Amino acid sequence: MDTDIRYEIPGDVADIHRLIELAFRNAPHTDHTEQYIVQALRAAGALWASLVAESGGKLVGHVALSPVQISDAAPGWYGLGPISVHPDYQGKAVGSRLMQCALAELEARGAAGCVLLGDPGYYGRFGFKAQSRLVLPGVPSEYFLARSFGGAIPQGSVQYHLAFTARD
Ligand SMILES: CC(C)(COP(=O)(O)OP(=O)(O)OC[C@H]1O[C@@H](n2cnc3c(N)ncnc32)[C@H](O)[C@@H]1OP(=O)(O)O)[C@@H](O)C(=O)NCCC(=O)NCCS
Repeated sequence: MDTDIRYEIPGDVADIHRLIELAFRNAPHTDHTEQYIVQALRAAGALWASLVAESGGKLVGHVALSPVQISDAAPGWYGLGPISVHPDYQGKAVGSRLMQCALAELEARGAAGCVLLGDPGYYGRFGFKAQSRLVLPGVPSEYFLARSFGGAIPQGSVQYHLAFTARD
């Protein structure tokens, strides 16, 4: 499938919102607030990168990156997510392309590392794994995953942007 990955533009905002809502509608482990999180990150100026996947002129995927704070004050760490692929396009490598582009973006812009919450069976292929040194309070450790871009994994607890508490 021919898919382009590009930065979001202002005209994408409503489509991104709908796409995220749709992607998570039947997903496990969701409280269906992901579209509001992205909206709140954008409003707070904390949407460090927002990439969309486009196929045949249709928006079929999206991934958000935002800065995270680590209790040991390690700089340059980011949270990846939410990541969304339109249900009709799941399982066609759109998510993989978004992951690869997000990681390339982080590396190109000098990030130290990246964390995410997700299934290690899927995200392991992109170099993510649970790290005992890095915790997200309240979350089972096997699903909180990290990868660095060469340096050491910091030690401490991770705090996502306040926008991740957005509910509507
Ligand atoms: C998760 C998601 C982004 C993956 O995108 P995708 O385009 O469907 O994935 P790809 O086609 O690149 O990769 C397919 C592989 O991922 C696996 N996979 C897809 N979604 C998965 C999930 N939620 N958990 C575990 N594995 C998953 C498939 O089994 C397949 O594995 P295989 O290559 O070993 O056969 C997409 O399915 C989605 O939007 N899901 C709903 C929202 C969601 O759960 N987001 C993630 C939490 S932030």
